[in-house]
This record gives sequence, structure tokens and C-alpha cells, in this order.
Amino acid sequence: MKVLGIESSCDETSVAVVEDGKVIFSNIIATQIAFHKLYGGVVPEIASRKHIEWITLVTKKAIKDACLSLKDIDGVAVTNRPGLAGSLIVGLTYGKALAYSLDRPFIAVNHILGHLYASHLNSASKELAPEYPYLGVLVSGGHTLILVVTNYDKVSVLGSTIDDSIGEAFDKVAKYYGLGYPGGVIIERLSKEGDKTAFSFPIAKIKGTNKFDVSYSGLKTAVLHQRLKFLRKGKVDDIPNLCASFQEAACKVLVEKILLALEETGLNKVVIGGGVAANSRLREMLQEGINRISRNNAITCYFPPLKLCTDNAAMIAGLGYHYLKEGRTNPLEESVKARISYKDGIIE
Ligand code: KG4
Ligand code: ZN
Repeated sequence: MKVLGIESSCDETSVAVVEDGKVIFSNIIATQIAFHKLYGGVVPEIASRKHIEWITLVTKKAIKDACLSLKDIDGVAVTNRPGLAGSLIVGLTYGKALAYSLDRPFIAVNHILGHLYASHLNSASKELAPEYPYLGVLVSGGHTLILVVTNYDKVSVLGSTIDDSIGEAFDKVAKYYGLGYPGGVIIERLSKEGDKTAFSFPIAKIKGTNKFDVSYSGLKTAVLHQRLKFLRKGKVDDIPNLCASFQEAACKVLVEKILLALEETGLNKVVIGGGVAANSRLREMLQEGINRISRNNAITCYFPPLKLCTDNAAMIAGLGYHYLKEGRTNPLEESVKARISYKDGIIE
């Protein structure tokens, strides 16, 4: 079965065609970065307007690159939650209209579950796709979640950030120091020229809450205050060292919680998804940590290829296939949700 996926939850307009939840025929990603970087972050109204301008062209290209015509599509899967409401509405309305006009089923897909699914796509890994259950880690601009995943649609939250997400911390630090947008990629690049031990930023200890939770606002504030210290001493900003030290602290706090979660749940696989999963230092630190706690390489870590870490429609089409196969399609009355919601502890 060939599913056409649509992703428009934030600032990428993406359409993909994926066969049987595995094989990517096409995955077109039109990024709006050039329009948002002037403001140092995503401007929701600009995002919605760009989606509406681009979505038809991106869909046509996805169909053309897949060497198919629209009538070959068996179903249309669209991200409808969570994300920027105005952006989601564009993709959802377009996808519903497409499904209706083609007389094909429509599937509403959760973006977070989509990110985790990226490691199940064929090109995702040299190894076989991860088998359930596993520990899921979602690290993006909107979320920082440590998850227990027992099936493609059965995901519960073990820990999360109590304030900023990790991607937001990267973006805000970059914005404050005038480094550009999106911050994650830029900080990672600058870190390569810096010394990660140059500054010692605090690793937040969270009291009285869930032991798997993380916090990024204290780290972010410490990094921002460092600038005032530079200025007081009459020194110019020491950007590469600052980036490397911040990146190290941001990854360390997360890796510690992932390792704790692996030890306490006894799960032997960890699957990472979301934009920050593209960070090479995070990948390295997590793999080192796993090698340390995992006897006889008993724990496997799955990272999607870089293109499938950030927002893309292939992960939505791939996941949508499983719902379609089980006949779990949605009515055309389906709407969008800006935030995550739960039913009996499972992400809806
Ligand atoms: O998953 P994503 O594309 O969108 C959301 O669902 O939020 O993630 C975007 C986030 C941004 O905060 C961006 O700065 C971050 O992922 N990011 C990175 C890297 N590439 C993207 N953070 C650290 N290192 C990277 N290489
Ligand atoms: Zn995302």
C-alpha cells in the first residue's frame, strides 16, 4: 500500500510517498528557515502563509519523484497534532480535501509518534528496524520526552522537561548571542572549534518531581548570564568555547536520564527521534554511555539518518500505513490539536 504523507506542524512543508510503512518513494521537504531567521524563531503566521503557498507544489513534486500519479495512492496520512494550530490546519485541510477528491481513506497522525517511527523506515538504519518494546526519546524544538514505547501507537511518558525543551534551549542561546536560526545546527558547528571544558555550566538537579524529568531553563539562563560576565571583564564573547560547553551540559543532562531510564525499565533498545537527534555530540555521548552500562552490547541504540531527524512527511506516511492496514482511518470532521493529550497515560 502506498501512503501519501503530509507534514506541516511547524516550519517545514513536507509531502512524501511511502510504501508499506517502509520504502520511501519520495520525501520532499520545503524549509521556511530563510523567512523565519530574520526574527530568530518561527513566526506562526508566516509559517501558515508559506504552507498554503507551497503545499500544492510540494505535493506535485512528491508524486512526480515517486514516479506515480495521485490515483496510485491508497491513503492520505496527515499530521494533525501537536504543533502550531495555524500550520497544522493548512496540511490537514489540504490532506482531507485530497483524500475526499480521490475517494481514499484519511488518517490523522501524531507528530511525536511520527518522529519515533523515523527509525522504522527502510533507509533509517543499516540494522533491522527496532522491535517493540523500547525506550523512546523525542528531542525536538517543541518537546523533550523519555517514553516507553510498546507499539507504534502505544507510547507513555516516563519523563519530560519541566520547562524549556532541549531544542528551544539551543535556539534561545543562539538567538541571544546573535548566531542565527535554527540554533541547534549552528551551535553544533561552532562547538567543533571550541573546548567543551572551557566553562562549567550547571547540570540542573530537580527536587521533588519525577526522577526522569529534565530542566533546561537554568542552563539557558547560566549561558545567557555568561555574556554579562564577558562584558564586565571587557572580553569579547568566547563563542566556540561557550557553544561547546553549553552543548556538553545540555547533552549530559539528557544522557544521564536516558541511561537511568534504561537501567530502571530493563529495556534493551533505545530509539531517538526529533531535530536534536541529529546532533553528533549527543549521538556520541549516548553511545558512550550505553557502552558503559551495557554488558555484552546488550543495549542497541537507533538513530535515524540526519534527514529523517528533523520534520519530514516520510515518517508520517510510514506510520499512517499501520493505521490504514488496521482500518483505523479518521472521519473528515477530524480537527487539529496544538498540545499533546493523553488517554489512560497513553499519548493520543
Ligand atoms: O523535530 P524538529 O525539526 O521540529 C520540531 O518538532 O520541533 O526539531 C527542530 C529543533 C530545533 O530546535 C533545532 O535547533 C534542533 O531541532 N536541531 C538541532 C540540530 N538540528 C536541529 N539541535 C542540535 N543539534 C543539531 N544538529
Ligand atoms: Zn518535529
